Amino acid sequence: MTSDEIIALSKKHTISEWSVQNAVDPIPVARAEGIYFYTPDGKRYIDFNSQLMCVNIGHSDARVVKAIQDQIAQLAYVIPAGMTTEVRARLGAKLAQIAPGDIDVFFFTNGGAEANENAFKIARAYTGRQKILARYRSYHGGTAAAIAATGEPRSWSQPPMPGIVHVLDPYHGIERGWDTAEQSLRYLEEVIQLEGPQTIAAFILESVTGTNGVLIPPDGYMQGVRALCDRHGILMIADEVMSGFGRTGEWFAIDHWGVVPDLISMAKGLTSAYVPMGAVGIRRRIADHFADKPFPGGLTYSSHALACAAALATLQVYEEDDLIARAKRTGQLMASLLADLAARHPSVGAVRSLGLFGIVELIRNRSTRAPMAAFNGTSPEMAALGKFFRQEGLFTFVRWNYFFTNPPLTITDDQLREAFAIIDRGLEITDKAVEG
Ligand SMILES: Cc1ncc(COP(=O)(O)O)c(C=O)c1O
Repeated sequence: MTSDEIIALSKKHTISEWSVQNAVDPIPVARAEGIYFYTPDGKRYIDFNSQLMCVNIGHSDARVVKAIQDQIAQLAYVIPAGMTTEVRARLGAKLAQIAPGDIDVFFFTNGGAEANENAFKIARAYTGRQKILARYRSYHGGTAAAIAATGEPRSWSQPPMPGIVHVLDPYHGIERGWDTAEQSLRYLEEVIQLEGPQTIAAFILESVTGTNGVLIPPDGYMQGVRALCDRHGILMIADEVMSGFGRTGEWFAIDHWGVVPDLISMAKGLTSAYVPMGAVGIRRRIADHFADKPFPGGLTYSSHALACAAALATLQVYEEDDLIARAKRTGQLMASLLADLAARHPSVGAVRSLGLFGIVELIRNRSTRAPMAAFNGTSPEMAALGKFFRQEGLFTFVRWNYFFTNPPLTITDDQLREAFAIIDRGLEITDKAVEG
């Protein structure tokens, strides 16, 4: 098929997520390798967002492809309760080695939303409480409870769910900026008191918030949340679906603060998206609760053998190629390239990064710090910037007043500089719109 045929037939017969369908303008992709992907016509793109922040090891790694081929030739699937497989056994044991602290039991799902759904079920069953605290600047997935816990605008069109309570984040947007860890924790404690601590099963939070702005919490915040949860018997759920598996230069982002959550949800980088898979990791004492009581969840494809094989092979690639340490090292270069953009471009209002998890926030007024596009909105300048990146063969997410810098962890220094050179030229578009 030609590129145009692929686009036309896809648009006619398939739905694109979260989008006004007439506005969708997909890039047809024929193949991908390393940090690049290619259209059927051979146009090359730098994948500067690792697709949906998930292809952490880069595209088409031969070791993972072979593991998947070997597994499907041997055994693709067995029923997840009452049967088990060697790859499932090995994956559970491997994740127990890398997960924070005493998290060493895993329930496997098909993706991140299901990991969070099951984390809520576990927390409610374990504590006997119903409320879930979540933050406004968050995305936790598209299924019923996960989207209800989500605080950002994608939740607005969904039915609200009793028992979900949203709290403010330490970050208040580019104009108002950050609260200190102390201010944020004092506010959180007040909400907990007013809601009734004995009614709250869990607090879910992204360790480093992803889609809503690469929000790196101030030092002390995560430790403070852990202490508050401990004091009130509330389970702490770290959503590491996007921030896990080396993205921030540690296995999990929460490792930066030495905090052990009670439950940890993961997906994306677990298999680097070669096969869909998610998981919720559980501390031993919580998992033991289900030793003599039924576990309150199940999925036909839980522990799917193909996904387990893909995950095991992916984890081996992280280790063999030392990708976690490499992300930390390359992340230092990325931080300096981001700082350089901030110093030279008047439209850059803020840059943030941890490892290879990065973002540039754009402003149109240096004194008021008004964003280049409104919250949940767009603007001609942001649209033009997105168009420029696409023309120049740089793929990344451009959202509201910001865009991401989230390459595969395998990116070389030269490739990173090449991508930043495109960004540098693109920012001339937004610089022209800056007043004040
Ligand atoms: C932090 C976070 N949690 C959960 C999800 C949902 O994961 P999935 O789309 O695999 O259901 C996402 C997806 O982007 C995410 O970024």
